[in-house]
Amino acid sequence: MKYRMCVLPGDGIGPEIVAQAVRVLDRVGEVFGHGFECATHLIGGAAIDATGGPLPEETLVAAKASDAVLLGAVGGPKWDAMDKAVRPEKGLLGIRKELGLFANLRPARLFDVLKNACCLRPDIVGQGLDVMVVRELTGGAYFGQPRGEEVRDGERVAFNTMIYSESEIRRIAKVGFETARKRSGKLCSVDKANVLDVSQLWREVVIDEARNHPDVELSHMYVDNAAMQLVRAPSQFDVIVTENLFGDILSDEAAVITGSIGMLPSASLGAGGPGLYEPIHGSAPDIAGKDLANPLATILSVAMMFTHSFGLPAEAAAVERAVAEVLGQGYRTGDIMSPGGALVGCSRMGELVAGAIRA
Ligand code: IPM
Ligand code: MG
Repeated sequence: MKYRMCVLPGDGIGPEIVAQAVRVLDRVGEVFGHGFECATHLIGGAAIDATGGPLPEETLVAAKASDAVLLGAVGGPKWDAMDKAVRPEKGLLGIRKELGLFANLRPARLFDVLKNACCLRPDIVGQGLDVMVVRELTGGAYFGQPRGEEVRDGERVAFNTMIYSESEIRRIAKVGFETARKRSGKLCSVDKANVLDVSQLWREVVIDEARNHPDVELSHMYVDNAAMQLVRAPSQFDVIVTENLFGDILSDEAAVITGSIGMLPSASLGAGGPGLYEPIHGSAPDIAGKDLANPLATILSVAMMFTHSFGLPAEAAAVERAVAEVLGQGYRTGDIMSPGGALVGCSRMGELVAGAIRA
């Protein structure tokens, strides 16, 4: 089979980590006999520098015509002072919206061999840590109107609108239930229904949708409590479904308790069309270009791509196995380094994982 990939390296460490993911992708192609045709396009700050905007039309057209999109990271101090309308992040939010990628899957799993890198007490992680955050990605405060800044009573005010329609809630709830069904059958919906109207509707719709999924055990938790429970007793969670902003925050928290935010992949999916695969971490400008970044989150995003876009479970398993094997041999990038580990850079880590791919 031939697959057309739209590759968007972006900014900061983006190009380095994406290069390693593409190396692994190519190796999987060789071993399993697939062709991955990768076309690289601009997004984020790199696109602003070259074209004046964070999401060139040409990038969007290429993404829409592809079978899957692989993205690195966007943003950096260089563009922080820019007009809000042309910030690098607008490129990422724009492509999510334009491709209709409302469901963002963020699996936070603690690799056994990384238990030492985990920042929680051993007795807390003893029961393992394997949480899937299903984050709504194209609604809520990120996109709600009205938004902006104006002068009221002689001073500046700024505002955003956290808004969800019933259909937006229902379609992400469905993804939550379906994801839970394939795992342990437990779904926790996270909201702030004790305060926010938007969360009250969220909860009502999720409860209503639960009637279509009687085999899934549904619970609800307020977001402040969920943030606490994630560090206090993370093994109580299996699948968490939540709105955009809460999901952004909780997925960083879930990621770091697995050892490093540099380990967490993600898949962003819509109702059809290409999915987008990216690490959940950012562009890490402080270490960009130094061959220090951890490429594993991006490499594991390729595994998610095999599963969710291409229906290639054996290839996905081969990538995950290769990552576990290389970690098992003691190789570590700086972010997951612990005593006794063998410190390697970004490109060496990619080379090792590619070398460990087997059918
Ligand atoms: C993420 C990031 C993005 C987000 C930023 C870069 C716009 O933090 O993917 O979690 O807030 O969604
Ligand atoms: Mg985030």
